[in-house]
Amino acid sequence: MGSPVVDADFFVRAGGEETFRTLVARFYEGVATDPVLRPLYPEEDLGPAADRLSLFLIQYWGGPGTYSEHRGHPRLRMRHAPFVIGEAERDAWLAHMRVALDSLTLDTEVHDRIWAYLQMAAESMRNSLS
Ligand code: HEM
Repeated sequence: MGSPVVDADFFVRAGGEETFRTLVARFYEGVATDPVLRPLYPEEDLGPAADRLSLFLIQYWGGPGTYSEHRGHPRLRMRHAPFVIGEAERDAWLAHMRVALDSLTLDTEVHDRIWAYLQMAAESMRNSLS
Protein backbone atom coordinates (compact mmCIF):
# COMPACT_ATOMS: atom_id res chain seq x y z
CA MET A 1 0.00 0.00 0.00
CA GLY A 2 3.00 2.27 0.36
CA SER A 3 4.54 1.67 -3.03
CA PRO A 4 3.61 4.00 -5.84
CA VAL A 5 1.73 2.22 -8.60
CA VAL A 6 0.75 5.37 -10.39
CA ASP A 7 1.77 7.00 -13.65
CA ALA A 8 3.46 10.39 -13.11
CA ASP A 9 0.78 12.08 -15.16
CA PHE A 10 -1.91 11.08 -12.66
CA PHE A 11 -0.52 13.45 -10.02
CA VAL A 12 -0.80 16.37 -12.42
CA ARG A 13 -4.31 15.34 -13.54
CA ALA A 14 -5.35 15.07 -9.90
CA GLY A 15 -4.34 18.71 -9.32
CA GLY A 16 -0.96 18.15 -7.66
CA GLU A 17 -0.07 18.84 -4.04
CA GLU A 18 -2.95 21.23 -3.52
CA THR A 19 -5.51 18.47 -4.06
CA PHE A 20 -3.99 16.23 -1.40
CA ARG A 21 -3.34 19.06 1.04
CA THR A 22 -6.96 20.20 0.76
CA LEU A 23 -8.28 16.63 0.96
CA VAL A 24 -6.38 16.00 4.19
CA ALA A 25 -7.17 19.41 5.72
CA ARG A 26 -10.90 18.77 5.21
CA PHE A 27 -10.56 15.19 6.42
CA TYR A 28 -8.99 16.40 9.68
CA GLU A 29 -11.73 18.98 10.16
CA GLY A 30 -14.02 15.97 10.47
CA VAL A 31 -11.64 13.97 12.65
CA ALA A 32 -11.25 16.91 15.07
CA THR A 33 -14.77 16.41 16.46
CA ASP A 34 -15.23 12.69 15.79
CA PRO A 35 -15.96 10.78 19.01
CA VAL A 36 -14.52 7.51 17.64
CA LEU A 37 -11.38 8.84 15.96
CA ARG A 38 -10.29 11.90 17.93
CA PRO A 39 -9.28 9.96 21.07
CA LEU A 40 -6.91 7.81 18.99
CA TYR A 41 -4.66 10.74 18.08
CA PRO A 42 -1.91 11.05 20.67
CA GLU A 43 -1.12 14.71 20.02
CA GLU A 44 -3.38 17.61 20.88
CA ASP A 45 -2.36 19.40 17.70
CA LEU A 46 -3.60 17.50 14.64
CA GLY A 47 -1.43 19.65 12.35
CA PRO A 48 1.62 17.36 12.33
CA ALA A 49 -0.55 14.27 11.69
CA ALA A 50 -2.24 16.11 8.81
CA ASP A 51 1.16 16.98 7.41
CA ARG A 52 2.31 13.35 7.52
CA LEU A 53 -0.82 12.06 5.81
CA SER A 54 -0.64 14.79 3.14
CA LEU A 55 2.98 14.02 2.37
CA PHE A 56 2.28 10.30 2.26
CA LEU A 57 -0.58 10.71 -0.22
CA ILE A 58 1.43 13.14 -2.34
CA GLN A 59 4.23 10.60 -2.55
CA TYR A 60 1.89 7.65 -3.15
CA TRP A 61 0.12 9.37 -6.02
CA GLY A 62 3.30 10.24 -7.87
CA GLY A 63 4.41 13.57 -6.38
CA PRO A 64 7.61 14.42 -4.49
CA GLY A 65 9.02 11.80 -2.10
CA THR A 66 9.24 14.15 0.88
CA TYR A 67 7.30 11.72 3.11
CA SER A 68 9.98 9.02 2.93
CA GLU A 69 12.80 11.57 3.20
CA HIS A 70 11.42 12.44 6.64
CA ARG A 71 9.76 9.23 7.78
CA GLY A 72 11.51 6.42 5.89
CA HIS A 73 9.57 3.50 4.45
CA PRO A 74 5.85 4.02 5.15
CA ARG A 75 5.22 0.62 6.87
CA LEU A 76 1.71 1.84 7.51
CA ARG A 77 0.30 -1.31 9.05
CA MET A 78 3.14 -1.33 11.57
CA ARG A 79 2.69 2.37 12.34
CA HIS A 80 -1.02 1.81 12.99
CA ALA A 81 -0.43 -1.17 15.28
CA PRO A 82 -0.65 0.97 18.47
CA PHE A 83 -4.23 1.99 17.59
CA VAL A 84 -7.17 -0.40 17.70
CA ILE A 85 -8.73 -0.15 14.24
CA GLY A 86 -11.93 -2.16 13.85
CA GLU A 87 -14.99 -1.66 11.69
CA ALA A 88 -16.13 1.46 13.54
CA GLU A 89 -12.76 3.19 13.17
CA ARG A 90 -12.43 2.17 9.53
CA ASP A 91 -15.93 3.35 8.71
CA ALA A 92 -15.48 6.67 10.53
CA TRP A 93 -12.14 7.26 8.78
CA LEU A 94 -13.67 6.51 5.38
CA ALA A 95 -16.75 8.64 6.04
CA HIS A 96 -14.61 11.74 6.69
CA MET A 97 -12.48 10.95 3.66
CA ARG A 98 -15.57 10.62 1.50
CA VAL A 99 -16.92 14.01 2.57
CA ALA A 100 -13.50 15.58 1.98
CA LEU A 101 -13.04 13.90 -1.40
CA ASP A 102 -16.52 14.83 -2.59
CA SER A 103 -15.87 18.46 -1.66
CA LEU A 104 -13.10 18.68 -4.26
CA THR A 105 -13.68 19.38 -7.91
CA LEU A 106 -12.01 16.38 -9.51
CA ASP A 107 -12.71 14.60 -12.74
CA THR A 108 -14.67 11.43 -12.18
CA GLU A 109 -11.89 9.04 -13.08
CA VAL A 110 -9.47 10.73 -10.67
CA HIS A 111 -12.10 10.84 -7.91
CA ASP A 112 -13.05 7.19 -8.35
CA ARG A 113 -9.47 5.98 -8.45
CA ILE A 114 -8.57 7.81 -5.23
CA TRP A 115 -11.76 6.58 -3.54
CA ALA A 116 -11.12 2.95 -4.54
CA TYR A 117 -7.61 3.22 -3.12
CA LEU A 118 -8.78 4.79 0.16
CA GLN A 119 -11.33 2.03 0.71
CA MET A 120 -8.74 -0.67 0.07
CA ALA A 121 -6.14 1.06 2.25
CA ALA A 122 -8.56 1.62 5.15
CA GLU A 123 -9.65 -2.01 5.11
CA SER A 124 -6.04 -3.16 5.07
CA MET A 125 -5.27 -1.01 8.14
CA ARG A 126 -7.80 -2.93 10.24
CA ASN A 127 -6.15 -4.79 13.06
CA SER A 128 -9.26 -5.67 15.09
CA LEU A 129 -12.36 -7.68 14.18
CA SER A 130 -14.76 -5.59 16.27
C1 HEM B 1 -1.00 8.01 11.26
C2 HEM B 1 -5.40 6.48 12.56
C3 HEM B 1 -6.11 4.71 8.13
C4 HEM B 1 -2.08 6.94 6.68
C5 HEM B 1 -2.13 7.72 11.99
C6 HEM B 1 -2.28 8.01 13.40
C7 HEM B 1 -3.51 7.59 13.75
C8 HEM B 1 -4.15 7.02 12.60
C9 HEM B 1 -4.16 7.67 15.13
C10 HEM B 1 -1.24 8.70 14.29
C11 HEM B 1 -1.26 10.17 14.00
C12 HEM B 1 0.11 10.70 13.66
O1 HEM B 1 0.78 11.09 14.60
O2 HEM B 1 0.50 10.72 12.47
C13 HEM B 1 -5.97 5.84 11.48
C14 HEM B 1 -7.25 5.15 11.50
C15 HEM B 1 -7.46 4.64 10.26
C16 HEM B 1 -6.29 5.01 9.45
C17 HEM B 1 -8.20 5.03 12.68
C18 HEM B 1 -8.68 3.85 9.85
C19 HEM B 1 -8.70 2.94 8.89
C20 HEM B 1 -5.09 5.19 7.33
C21 HEM B 1 -4.98 4.97 5.91
C22 HEM B 1 -3.84 5.60 5.51
C23 HEM B 1 -3.24 6.21 6.67
C24 HEM B 1 -5.97 4.18 5.07
C25 HEM B 1 -3.26 5.72 4.12
C26 HEM B 1 -3.96 5.79 3.04
C27 HEM B 1 -1.43 7.39 7.79
C28 HEM B 1 -0.11 8.00 7.78
C29 HEM B 1 0.22 8.28 9.09
C30 HEM B 1 -0.93 7.85 9.89
C31 HEM B 1 0.75 8.26 6.54
C32 HEM B 1 1.52 8.89 9.60
C33 HEM B 1 2.55 7.77 9.70
C34 HEM B 1 3.90 8.27 10.19
O3 HEM B 1 4.71 8.69 9.36
O4 HEM B 1 4.11 8.24 11.39
N1 HEM B 1 -3.27 7.11 11.53
N2 HEM B 1 -5.42 5.74 10.23
N3 HEM B 1 -4.03 5.93 7.76
N4 HEM B 1 -1.88 7.32 9.08
FE1 HEM B 1 -3.62 6.53 9.65
